Amino acid sequence: LSKKNVGSKDKRAPRETNQAVVRKAMLRRLPRRLGVSGQLLLPAAPSLFEHFTELLHEAFALVGRVFNAEETERLRSIVKTKLEEAFEVSPYSRVVVDYATAEPPSTALNYNVYVAASSVASEYASWVTTRTPPYFGVHPDAKIVECARSLGAPAEVPVLDIGAGTGRNTLPLARDGFPTDAVELAPALASILRAEAEKERLPVRVFEADALGGELELARGHYRLVFLAEVIASHIRSVEEIRVLLERAANALATGGLLVFNAFIAKDGYRPDSMARELSQVYWCNLFTKTEIARAMQGLPFELVSDESTHDFEAEHQPAEGWPPTGWFVEWSRGLDLFDLPGGRAPIELRWLVYRKL
Ligand SMILES: C[S@@+](CC[C@H](N)C(=O)[O-])C[C@H]1O[C@@H](n2cnc3c(N)ncnc32)[C@H](O)[C@@H]1O
Repeated sequence: LSKKNVGSKDKRAPRETNQAVVRKAMLRRLPRRLGVSGQLLLPAAPSLFEHFTELLHEAFALVGRVFNAEETERLRSIVKTKLEEAFEVSPYSRVVVDYATAEPPSTALNYNVYVAASSVASEYASWVTTRTPPYFGVHPDAKIVECARSLGAPAEVPVLDIGAGTGRNTLPLARDGFPTDAVELAPALASILRAEAEKERLPVRVFEADALGGELELARGHYRLVFLAEVIASHIRSVEEIRVLLERAANALATGGLLVFNAFIAKDGYRPDSMARELSQVYWCNLFTKTEIARAMQGLPFELVSDESTHDFEAEHQPAEGWPPTGWFVEWSRGLDLFDLPGGRAPIELRWLVYRKL
């Protein structure tokens, strides 16, 4: 171009001097120097993949990294796959998104998505290092004690505590003279229970095992009481898994013996979708419908003895100084860990279910 031509072009496009327009123009260039790096931890709920993709999209857009349709689709597909992978391992796993802007003046954003796997055993291993005991309360469950005592003289009533934790129920029952066995999956908790029983010279047998696994062998028809306190409620993931536990309990119980467990049951009229089911596992309040419990029970030699609210029963029967059992129990048992609703409005609740072996 000749000098003359350049000059005449400039005259047709006057310089921008409007302060507001100029400032906006500078802000649009800011991503060339604005840097950010961070980590997002997503709970393992595959049905939330759209929600999480939008969240990431917005977070990245805040620092001027606006993904186009193709980039968004790629992010969505990675997040979806990783959430499914994480949930399959365990609902306590998380999907980690590490992100960082590229070196200036690039306006790119790099990210890496991966699964941080967890398990029941590793969750409790971390409780032992980060929380102050007692982890589940000081006193035994009033419902368990009531059922055990209803069966006769303690020496004649062998009991089995499945998912015994640190022995909140096992130890008091053994102290009362009930021949007591305990099954516990998490080594960190089983060793506390074992040490406590040894310290008090209580004849408790502790089986460190997965109650769902094939390696656990229980004496047939031996127990008068088999119970699972806060176990199905916190950690059992499907009707098929409940079925395994119920079959085992049926085999291990003597005729006339009692099976007691608590579970989060959906209120009549509430039909949980996949988001509710996945998040209930994330928040340790695994929900089931009455129909699903009936399916797990189908054909087994049990008759229902009682079905009542765990919160209400325990609130009424626990000693005053033992209530609430933990800082989390009241909200958890009323379904409020999953649903941010006023007390009494959640569509699930923890219930004590008692069955007699026929
Ligand atoms: C919320 S804690 C309750 C502990 C105890 N029952 C109580 O009420 O104090 C749930 C317990 O169930 C155990 N658990 C979960 N799944 C299990 C399985 N498949 N086999 C044996 N124990 C299991 C956990 O390790 C944990 O100790």
